[in-house]
Amino acid sequence: MHDIAIRGGTVVTAFGTARCDIGIRDGRIATLAETVPDAAQVIQADGLLVLPGGVDTHCHIEQPEANGTVHEDSFVTASASAFAGGTTSGVCFIPQFKGSGILDRFADYRARAARGMLDHGFHQIIADPTDEVLEREVPLVVAEGVRSLKVFLTYEPLHLDDAGYLKVLLAARRNGCLVTVHCENYDAINWRTKALLDAGLTAPKYHAWARPRVVEREATHRAIALAELVDQPIQVFHVSCEDAAEEIARAQARGLKVWGETCPQYVTLTASDMDRPGFEGAKFMCSPAPRDAAEHARVWEMIRRGTLDVVSSDHCGFSYGGDRGKAQNGRDAVFRDIPNGIPGIAARLPIIFSEGVSKGRITLEQFVALTATNPAKLMGLAPRKGMIQPGADADLALWDPARRVTITNALMQHAIDYTPYEGLEVTGWPVATLRRGEVVMRDGKVQAEPGTARYLPRAPYGMIRPRGIAPDGFIPR
Ligand code: URP
Ligand code: ZN
Ligand code: ZN
Repeated sequence: MHDIAIRGGTVVTAFGTARCDIGIRDGRIATLAETVPDAAQVIQADGLLVLPGGVDTHCHIEQPEANGTVHEDSFVTASASAFAGGTTSGVCFIPQFKGSGILDRFADYRARAARGMLDHGFHQIIADPTDEVLEREVPLVVAEGVRSLKVFLTYEPLHLDDAGYLKVLLAARRNGCLVTVHCENYDAINWRTKALLDAGLTAPKYHAWARPRVVEREATHRAIALAELVDQPIQVFHVSCEDAAEEIARAQARGLKVWGETCPQYVTLTASDMDRPGFEGAKFMCSPAPRDAAEHARVWEMIRRGTLDVVSSDHCGFSYGGDRGKAQNGRDAVFRDIPNGIPGIAARLPIIFSEGVSKGRITLEQFVALTATNPAKLMGLAPRKGMIQPGADADLALWDPARRVTITNALMQHAIDYTPYEGLEVTGWPVATLRRGEVVMRDGKVQAEPGTARYLPRAPYGMIRPRGIAPDGFIPR
């Protein structure tokens, strides 16, 4: 006997598509069969696709910043937003600030995340790689199930120089972690920023001028080269352009364990979106900066080739109005002082489905791989998350592939007062989301109880094991 049977749908996995029923027992997938006859509850899915719930491995939720502000989406509102868009689990960021350790934040952040509804793991940001942090504290956080260390090669209070980055790579190698990297050249951006501001070019659109493609390409190359030196697997976050993706492709061709992530903003938004009157351009400011329409086609090509194999949202909860979000330094702030990042946890699946599958750029199976299975595998969450197979959590999105929707902020169901995708027309939309067998969204109505989120501790896993090959065979401790 099953608790739930999902009948009549077309089940899509990263490996194929089949017309079959799904039987769910105790929150997990128990049966995949032509018919699942015996169930206490039946959900009819005729005409719908049944997809693994989205796995968003790059979300900034309720994350404190060094200046004392906190990303405005709480774990409750971000969970609702995720469910509204068919996403059922995520990996978020525990911050570290210079001069502090990492342990003090861990318990607090875990408690915050537990108040939400989204099943979650954590990346640990390392902004101050002291011996104390790397030798004593990182192993303790890893023992709690954190398996990825996040580093920024730019941003004023967070950035690491090459020496700091090398130390983190080594610590990750010792502890069996992946390193995820924000790749842009800090000094080059500072130099251009100063030159722009000195010339009186201060509006949001100059954000893109301060960080052109070459600063991303250079940092991506350097991040990969140093990871190769240490024999440490890395994932390059939010790749915005072909130039940076080519560095990843070259590394992959050499057999290095280097993966590339991109985001919906890099196939939909452009630098000209930041060129709107007044402060409006701030709504589109994220780093790396959106490029141009021609670049979208190149990013799709890198997705199709498999160079970029994960699409995350990089969800950042900064409202446009109020004084805690984009305008925290005033509505006449120079571009340098406007917080980076845009909300997108709900929009991610509809945009990639629409721009990708509906427009014929990728297959259904590629869509599932990019948005659920690949991120789950790379973060050590599979097969429990991101897959439809017996034993996996019954995290599912019931998807209407023909439904045409115009994105509005209300549909995003987040606590942010805008979406950068307002007015974008998409084809394909989730009609229901199940998390561990519970219907947490149906017809746009989110119905999950706060406090039902589960923490996803991550055990050691083979995908991120170092290759055992260093340039001269010598890897210092
Ligand atoms: O602009 C962005 N992406 N902000 C979020 C922080 C980061 O760089 O991932
Ligand atoms: Zn970043
Ligand atoms: Zn981010």
